[in-house]
Amino acid sequence: MLEVRDLTIAYGRHVALEGVSLSVARGEMVAILGANGAGKSSLLSAIAGRVAPRTGAIGYDGQSLLGLPQHGLVDRGIALVPEGRGIFPGLTVAENLALGANPMRARAGAAATREEVLTLFPRLAERRRQIAGTMSGGEQQMVAIGRALMSKPDLLLLDEPSLGLAPIVVQEVFAALVRIRDTGLTIMIVEQNARATLALADRAYLLEAGRIIGTGRADALRNDPAVVRAFLGGLSGNAPAQA
Ligand SMILES: Nc1ncnc2c1ncn2[C@@H]1O[C@H](COP(=O)(O)OP(=O)(O)OP(=O)(O)O)[C@@H](O)[C@H]1O
Ligand SMILES: [Mg+2]
Repeated sequence: MLEVRDLTIAYGRHVALEGVSLSVARGEMVAILGANGAGKSSLLSAIAGRVAPRTGAIGYDGQSLLGLPQHGLVDRGIALVPEGRGIFPGLTVAENLALGANPMRARAGAAATREEVLTLFPRLAERRRQIAGTMSGGEQQMVAIGRALMSKPDLLLLDEPSLGLAPIVVQEVFAALVRIRDTGLTIMIVEQNARATLALADRAYLLEAGRIIGTGRADALRNDPAVVRAFLGGLSGNAPAQA
């Protein structure tokens, strides 16, 4: 479904990604694990059309995504939940969700999709009239994911959904991700929370200083001593990975 070939991204003279190739099949959940500054957000931003790569190719259902405007990517079914969530803090939960349904592909079925999203996140149903900016970090993350789902994506890109959340809230967000995954939606997730993410994903790529240094099935990576040392840090539970 998604095919990234030899992608290089640079900001001025700083090379953030170098020669990155990866693929995601329809229905898969693929994780990108890496420490701060590894280039994870740059990778998702390029796929979502927010950053133009210096070289390389991004193919989606056999067609190139390069050069398409951001709204064109949303129309093609690609939704990004950016790092820091990117919700409208001054609008209510309901208004944030309604804005998510703006793409053509999402408009006709918006009412039904909204019911699905509110079933997935009952908290949002209770709080639909609350101003989003007054919600807790975890609730805001749910708004951000809910808004992305309102666009009826075929590919959901999640940039560190657990960032800055308390462990109990992280569990809640990950539980919602399991339910989303189980609907069959194709998901690419970027995380530093390696242990929890490998428990969820089908496959993962390990990113270090802009390069892919390993890949494999998530269950195999969880038991690989080198991966445990470098990315799981021997810590338990939801502790962030050590790089
Ligand atoms: N707009 C930008 N201008 C200049 N440098 C940038 C820009 N965005 C990212 N970088 C640099 O590129 C590198 C990769 O950044 P990126 O945000 O992709 O990493 P990341 O893996 O998402 O990190 P984090 O875990 O902290 O979110 C970093 O060294 C960062 O400083
Ligand atoms: Mg990032």
